[in-house]
This record gives sequence, structure tokens and C-alpha cells, in this order.
Amino acid sequence: MIPYSRQQITRQDIHAIAQVLRSKYLTTGPAVEAFETALCKLTGARYAIACSNGTTALHLACLAIGLGKGHIGITSPLTFLASANCIEYCGAKTAFVDIDLATLCLSPAKLDEYCKTRKVPKVVIPVDYAGIPADLPAIHALAKKYGFMVIEDAAHSIGSTYSYHGKTYQCGSCAHTDIATFSFHPVKNITTGEGGAVLTNNARLAAKLRLLRSHGMTKDPALLSRKDGPWYYEMVDLGFNYRITDIQCALGISQLKRLGKIKKQRQAIVREYNRIFTGIEGIVTPPWPKHASPCQHLYPIWFANGSRARMAAYNTLAENGIHAQVHYIPVYMQPYYVEKYGKQAGLCQNAERFYNACLSLPLYPELTKPQIKKIVELVVEVVV
Ligand SMILES: Cc1ncc(COP(=O)(O)O)c(C=O)c1O
Repeated sequence: MIPYSRQQITRQDIHAIAQVLRSKYLTTGPAVEAFETALCKLTGARYAIACSNGTTALHLACLAIGLGKGHIGITSPLTFLASANCIEYCGAKTAFVDIDLATLCLSPAKLDEYCKTRKVPKVVIPVDYAGIPADLPAIHALAKKYGFMVIEDAAHSIGSTYSYHGKTYQCGSCAHTDIATFSFHPVKNITTGEGGAVLTNNARLAAKLRLLRSHGMTKDPALLSRKDGPWYYEMVDLGFNYRITDIQCALGISQLKRLGKIKKQRQAIVREYNRIFTGIEGIVTPPWPKHASPCQHLYPIWFANGSRARMAAYNTLAENGIHAQVHYIPVYMQPYYVEKYGKQAGLCQNAERFYNACLSLPLYPELTKPQIKKIVELVVEVVV
């Protein structure tokens, strides 16, 4: 079976994990800090807080900025549930702004329109869909204009970069956002099994994120109301156990070391798909914006002839042991959101159009050229 994505585990990865298993700390030890340092080094962000998964990373991020009742949080409809659920966890209202078809990410123009005519959100959560960087500089400019905060959901985009005014930025750098989050689920560009991280350049937010990751508990003398003895700790906020283990972080460090190679492999596969699909009518390949160098997490094609062609391609691939996937059902169409906010069909027409006819083809480093050729042939069969 060829899945749409899968993890890559090397002997070095296994060795790194085994070393932790033989060491003193399985959790809250040196591998966690070393992973956080490596994430800062990669992205250029000043602080990284590793946590249990990408969903808890988003939850921590929303809590750290003080999102709560009476606030609005905006995200893209073309995303996994977690990008919106984190707003709901905090008791805020979730709103959606449509994607730009040129990037498949949240449209800054539509966000501007929203802010002009509606209550300004407390936070906007753009998603780097499929590894394509959202237009963060444009969203940053709007954040300054309207006064909202920005959390980049970079679950798909570790390793991706974008250029702005002649400078290159890593996704997750927080150069144009307040906070960024990663996911290290096995289907992502690098994995820790389950895992996530929150990044920021803001010392106050970083301190709050660390506190909330572990029960809101502290031994920091500056935060204690009194001190009974060296064992003494206080819970100064309502936090969670959203910690990650040293075992997972050792895997993360090992995987991060070859992110450059993984990116080259992923880009090569995307180029190969694009090359073979060139000139095939009825198939639109995913965007590769000029200003970006994406570390593609997904390869979502779009069938110009509509959902029937997509269904036929999905079935043909499945019959041949190839598991394609659809990313994503616009989040506001989920029963939970329909029940809470009412039917919003037609709210984000680009996202709906894309959802109705998109299909993510397999993309992971081990995928071979003959496999890519076969996948393309099967897809092309249904459109010609
Ligand atoms: C865009 C996006 N955000 C957040 C998440 C949540 O990450 P995790 O599965 O690590 O909780 C995912 C996971 O699939 C995702 O695709």
C-alpha cells in the first residue's frame, strides 16, 4: 500500500532514541531543551516550547495571548480541525476567512474586507497549507492596521521559507507573527511520533507558554507568594500536562538534522509530479509561489472537471493500492460548527470549490520515480 504520507525512520533515529532510554531522564530532561534549541536555530525564533502535539501547541498559543470569551478568532477554512478548535477551547468565537486560490492559504485581501466591516478579531491563525507559506507579511501589515495578534499554524511547513523585501524567512520564525506552532505527527515533514512546538520572539509569551505547558506550576522565586522550603512550588495559573518526552525529542533532534535533505527530496518529488502533469488538461497542480521555497507536506491536485473526476481518481488509485486523501473539508461544514454557528454553506467559496475537487497524492521521501509515474498515469486515465 502506498499511503499519502508516512514517516521516515533511520538507524540514527533509532540510535538516538535508544540513548535516551539508557539515560537518566525520559521526560523534562536535556533532550527537550536540546530540541527546543535546535528549533530556534532552524527558524531564527528566540524561544521554542516543545509540547505533546500540534493541537496542544495551538491551544497553548491561544491561551498565552489571552484569547477568551467575547473574542473572535479567525482561521482558514482549508485546514485540519485543530486550527479552529483551539479557538473554541478558549471559549472564543471562531470565524473563517476564505483562501486565496493562488496560495491556497488565508487571503489577506478578504481578511482586510472582514476587518473593515466586522468586529476586529483578537487573533488570526493563518495556516501554511500543504507547506506553502501563507502571506505572513501582508497579514502582519493588517495586524498592525487593525490591532489583532497572529499565530502561524505551521504544522505543515517546517523547513519552508519565504522571501520578503530581499530577506528570506523560515516558516515558524515569528518574523511576521506573534507566535508560530509546529506539529510532529508521523505524516508531517519531520516527526516525534506525536509532538508539537510553540515558537515566539516574545519573552513574556514564552514564560507563559512554559508555565501553561506544565500545570501552571512554578518554582521561580520571582513568581512565588512565599517559600516554605526548597521543595516548594506554586500553581499560579490553570495549566495542563502538555509536555513532550525526551524520547520523542531525541527523535525530533535526529530528524531535524536531515530536514535539509528531506526538503530536497520533497521538492524533487513535487517537481517530478509537476513535470509529468504538464500539459494534461483537467488537472491543476498545487501552487508554488515565486516568493517561497516550500518544504511541501502535501501534493494536492485539483480536478477542473469537478468532483466526479476526483472520485474516479480516488477509486482507481485505491484499487491499485494507492491511498490518496482529501485535504480538507472546510471546517465550518463539520457538524459541531454547523450546530454552533448555523449552516454556513457558501461562506468561503474558494475553499469549497477546492474541497469539491481536490485530491492529495502520495508525497514522502521514499516515493520512487516509477511509483510517481504510475500514480500520474492512473490519475490521467480518468480525466482524458
Ligand atoms: C494544519 C494543522 N494544524 C494542526 C494540526 C494538529 O497537529 P497534531 O495532529 O500534532 O495535534 C494538524 C494535524 O494534522 C494540521 O494539519
